[in-house]
Amino acid sequence: MYEQVSHSLLNEILDEVKSEIRDRDLRHFYTRLGANFYVIHQLFNHLYGKREDFREQLIRLVEVMATRYVQRHVSLKQLDSEREKDHNWFLSQEWVGMALYADGFADNLQGVESKLHYLQELGINMLHVMPVMVCPEGASDGGYAVSDFRNVDPRVGSLDAINTLSASARKRGMLLILDMVLNHTSDQHEWAQRARAGEQKYQDYYYIFDNRDVPDMFEETMPEIFPESSPGNFTWDEQMQKWVMTVFNSYQWDLDYSNPAVFIEMLDNNLFWANQGADILRLDAVAFLWKKIGTTCQNEREAHLILQLMKDCCQVTAPGVLFIAEAIVAPVEIAKYFGEDAVIAKECEIAYNATYMALLWDALATKNTQLLRQGIQSLPTKLDRATWLNYLRCHDDIGLGFDDADIVRAGYQPLAHRQFLVDYFTGQYDDSIARGQPFGVNHKTGDARISGSLASLAGLESAMETSDDLEIEKSVKVILLLHSMICSFGGIPLLYYGDEIGTLNNYGYMQDDNKVGDNRWMHRPNMDWEKAERRHQHGTPEQQIFDGLKKMIAVRKGIPAFADFNNRELVDAENPHLFVFWRTDPFMPLGSILVVCNFDDSPQYMDLTVLGNRGMFEYGNLRDIFSGESPRLFKDQLVVPPFHFYWLTDERPDVSSF
Ligand code: GLC
Repeated sequence: MYEQVSHSLLNEILDEVKSEIRDRDLRHFYTRLGANFYVIHQLFNHLYGKREDFREQLIRLVEVMATRYVQRHVSLKQLDSEREKDHNWFLSQEWVGMALYADGFADNLQGVESKLHYLQELGINMLHVMPVMVCPEGASDGGYAVSDFRNVDPRVGSLDAINTLSASARKRGMLLILDMVLNHTSDQHEWAQRARAGEQKYQDYYYIFDNRDVPDMFEETMPEIFPESSPGNFTWDEQMQKWVMTVFNSYQWDLDYSNPAVFIEMLDNNLFWANQGADILRLDAVAFLWKKIGTTCQNEREAHLILQLMKDCCQVTAPGVLFIAEAIVAPVEIAKYFGEDAVIAKECEIAYNATYMALLWDALATKNTQLLRQGIQSLPTKLDRATWLNYLRCHDDIGLGFDDADIVRAGYQPLAHRQFLVDYFTGQYDDSIARGQPFGVNHKTGDARISGSLASLAGLESAMETSDDLEIEKSVKVILLLHSMICSFGGIPLLYYGDEIGTLNNYGYMQDDNKVGDNRWMHRPNMDWEKAERRHQHGTPEQQIFDGLKKMIAVRKGIPAFADFNNRELVDAENPHLFVFWRTDPFMPLGSILVVCNFDDSPQYMDLTVLGNRGMFEYGNLRDIFSGESPRLFKDQLVVPPFHFYWLTDERPDVSSF
C-alpha cells in the first residue's frame, strides 16, 4: 500500500542512515523495505509512537535491518530469492524434523555433524538443535536462560561449528532450526549484570520494581509456570535491592518489550542467527512477550503485534527464514500466532500443535477418540500459508491444555478427567503401566502436567523390566501408531531424539544438583549409541521402531495428499475407538488417502458405508499404502487390529520402492 506519511518518512530516514549503508548496492533490500515499510511504521508507531525518541529508534531499526542485510552471505541471499518464488515450500509432505540437544545426542555440535548420516538414514531433513547459545554453568533451564545471544556455549561448540553444521546439513538437503529465547535472558547476561550494577538504561530492559506494590498487582492474575521449583512471578535481587519479574525460573529475567531498544536488540539477535545459516528460528515462549496488570500476561494483543513487527522486519533482511511459534496455550489462542485476519502467515509460519499432541495422549489413555475428534473440530481453520508442527514428545512436559468445553462435550468432567490422565500416565491407575511423573503440580489450582519419555509413557519401560513380550509388542505398536498420526495429519512431524529407538526414562538427572528439581530431565536423554546399534538386530524393539518409522517417513514423503493445504476432513466412523480422516491431494482429487487408526487394544471394525459414495473409493481395491497389503474386510466392514493404523488408497501404487 502506498501511504504518504510512512513513505516520506522512509525517504528521510534513508538520507539519515549511516553512509556505509547508503553507499551499498541494496536493490533487493530497498524493494522489500518499500513493500513492508508501511506496516512496519504502523506497528512501530502503535507500540512506541508516544515516546520522544521514536524517530531515533526507527532510524536505528532500519539501520539494523540494513546492516544485517549487508552482512548476509550471498548464498543465503540466493536462498531467500528462491524461497520467495517457491513460497509454499514448507507445506510439502517431504519435510520431517527431529529435535535434539547437541550434548545429549552426540556430546557437541561436531558430534551432531558426525551423526547426520544416522538422521538421514531415518529420513530426517529438518534438524532442530535446541539452545546452543552461552548459558550459565549451573542451572540454565536446559539452555533457555541465555547469557550471551551472540556466541555458542563452549560446552557444545563454537560459531564455526554451527556454520560447519549448517553447511553440512544443507549439502544433505537438511534444514537447520535454532532457538531464539525472546522472552527473557539469564540473570548472568550482560544487560542483567549492568542493571544490577545500577545502570538505568539496562534496568529499563527488564521489569524491575522498588517494592511489592506493582508485583502484587501483577500476581493477582498471573498464573505460575513452575509452581514447585519457582513459585511466584517475581524475584528479589539482593544487589539491586529491587524486585525483578521472573515468570519462569528465578534466574530468567523477563524482557520489557514496551522499550523499543529491547525489540531492536532482539531483532538484531534474530537476524544474527539467520545470518549464521539458520533456516528456521524457533521463537520460545512467544505468548509471554507482553505484560499487563490485571491479565494473565499471556496472549496479549501487543505480543502479537511484536511478532508481526518481528516478521515484517525479518522479511526485509532475510525473507527465506521462517518462524516457529512456541506457544503452549489454549487451543483457540495457538492458531492466532499465525496471525489473525490474514491469508498468509503474518506472525509465525509454523506453530507447535500442542492441542493435537495432548489429544493424542488422551485418546491413548481412554482408548477412545471422542475428545480427540471434538478437540480437532473446535480448532480454528489454519491460514493457507502456515503449517503445524506435529509432535508427540519434546524436551518439555505434556500439558493438558484442552478446552474445558470440549472435555464436557466429550462426556467428561474437566477436573476429574485431567486428574485421570495424570494418574494414568504416572502409573497410578490400575489399568496403566505408563511410567511418567507429575510435573508442575500446583496445589492451589489442582493443575498438573506430565513428564516422561515416549517409550516409558507407552509402557515399554515396565514391559521390558518384566520381560513381558506381549506388552513389549503392544507398546511398540502404540509408539508406531502415535507416530503415524503425526506423519499423516497435515503439518510437519517433529520427532524427538531417542524416540526412534524407544529410549526409556533417564533417571540420571536425580544425581545432578542443577537438575534434580526439574523432572523434565527424565526425558532429555543422553543418546545410547549401543542401543541405537540394536536397530540392526532383527526383532528387537529398537529395530521394529526404527524400521517402522523409517518406512513411515519414506511413504509419507511420497504421498502428496499429506502436504498441508487444509486438505483434511474428519470422518465419523461411528466407532468411538477409531480416529478416521480423509487427506485429499489438492492437485489430484482422486489421490485421496483414508487414514484409519484404532486406539483400542481389541480389534475394531468400521462400516465402510459411512463413507457414502465419497470419491471413487472402491472398497474391493483398497490398499494400505504403508504396508502395501490389502486391509482385512468382512463384507462392508473394515477390520482394524488393536493399535493399528491404515493409510488407505484404492489405487495400486508401487510400494516396493519404499
Ligand atoms: C519454553 C521451553 C521450555 C522453557 C521455557 C522458558 O517453553 O520449551 O523448556 O522452560 O520456554 O524458556
